[in-house]
Amino acid sequence: MASEPAILPVGIETEGNTWLHPGAAAFDFRSDTKTCPTRSMLEAVCRASHGDDVSRSDPTTNDLEAHVASLTSRDAALFVLSGTMGNQIALRSLLNQPPHSVLCDDRSHVFNNEAGSISSLSGALVIPVTASNGRYMTLEDILKRVDLRSTVHSCPTRVICLENTLAGMIMPLSETRRISAFARSHGIKLHLDGARLWEAVAARAGTLTEYCSLFDTVSLSFSKGLGAPVGGILVGSYEVIGRARWVRQSIGGGVRQPGLLTAAARVAIDETFAGGLLARSHTMAEVVAVHWMKCGGKLKYPTQTNMVWLDLEGQSFSLTELTEKGQKDGLLISRDRLVFHYQISDEAVRKLKSLISNLTSDI
Ligand SMILES: Cc1ncc(COP(=O)(O)O)c(C=O)c1O
Repeated sequence: MASEPAILPVGIETEGNTWLHPGAAAFDFRSDTKTCPTRSMLEAVCRASHGDDVSRSDPTTNDLEAHVASLTSRDAALFVLSGTMGNQIALRSLLNQPPHSVLCDDRSHVFNNEAGSISSLSGALVIPVTASNGRYMTLEDILKRVDLRSTVHSCPTRVICLENTLAGMIMPLSETRRISAFARSHGIKLHLDGARLWEAVAARAGTLTEYCSLFDTVSLSFSKGLGAPVGGILVGSYEVIGRARWVRQSIGGGVRQPGLLTAAARVAIDETFAGGLLARSHTMAEVVAVHWMKCGGKLKYPTQTNMVWLDLEGQSFSLTELTEKGQKDGLLISRDRLVFHYQISDEAVRKLKSLISNLTSDI
C-alpha cells in the first residue's frame, strides 16, 4: 500500500475532515459550489508560495494568472476572490462615468444576485433584456433595448454583459459572435460572466480561446463545478486587466498571501477541467433529465450541461415534498434546480431516480 505523502501535516486526516472525506458532497444536488476540496488541493496548498500579491510577488498566483491567460489566449489575467468580485471589477473597469448603462439578461447573476452593485459600484443603469427564445439573448433581443442615443435624455449603453452558461444553458458561439460584432461596431464593451464557461467548453460548444476572443473581459470561477474552495479570475487585454488590478485594490480585493487559494485553483483547473471530469456530471444530468421526462415530467429549461430544471407545475407533489423525501434518502435538494458536479456519486443518481419514480407514481 502506498504510504501517506509526508507533506500532510500530522493529524490532518481525522475522521470527518471534509478535505479528505467528500462524502456529503456526493449526495448534494443544491449547487456545484458544494464540492469538497481534494487531497491534491491540500497538498498543493502545503507547497504554495507565501509571496505578497499586492506587490505582484507571489509565484503561485503569478503562475496561475499566466496559465489562465495562456489557456484563454488573452494578454493577462487577474485572480479575484469570488465570481461576484470578478464581474463587478470587470464592469467598473470597462465603464467610465455616468450617464451610462449596462445591458444584460433579465435572469443574469449580475442583475439579480450581486447586491445591486452595478449601480452602487459603477453608477450604471441596468437594462434587463428578456431572451425571447427562453434560452439565451439574441442580437435581435438586444437591439430592442440597447440605448445608442447620445441625446441629453439618453443613458447610453456602454457595456453588454452576457452569461454562459446561464441556468446551465449554453450561449452558442455563433450568436456570441453576432453580438460581439455588433458591440464592437458601436464602441460598446462586452463582458462575459463565464463563471461556468468551463461547462460550455466541456460540452464542446467552443473553446476557451474562441469564446474569450469575443469579449473585452471574461470572468471565470474556480469554486463552481471546478471544485476549488475559493476564487475566480478575470482575463482581458493588458490595459483592462491593469485597470482591473487597480479597481480590485480599491475595494479591498488585493490579497497579501493568496498562494494557498491560487494553488488549489490551479489543481481545480488541471484535474477537474483539463482532466475531463466535467463531462461525467453532464452525463449524469442527462440521465436524470431523461428519467424525469420518462416519468411524465417536464423541464423548465433544456438540460445542456450540469443542471436539470424540473417544472413542478401540475405535479402531484410539491417542492417541499421533494426536498423532504430527498432528505430522508440522504439527498440534499433545495430547489426545482438539480445541480450535478464531479463529486456526485452513482449511488446518489440511483437514489434520485428512484425518488423521482416514487413521487411521480404517487396518486
Ligand atoms: C453565473 C454566476 N456568476 C457569478 C456568480 C458569483 O460567484 P460567487 O458566488 O463566487 O460570487 C455565480 C454564483 O453562483 C453564478 O452562478
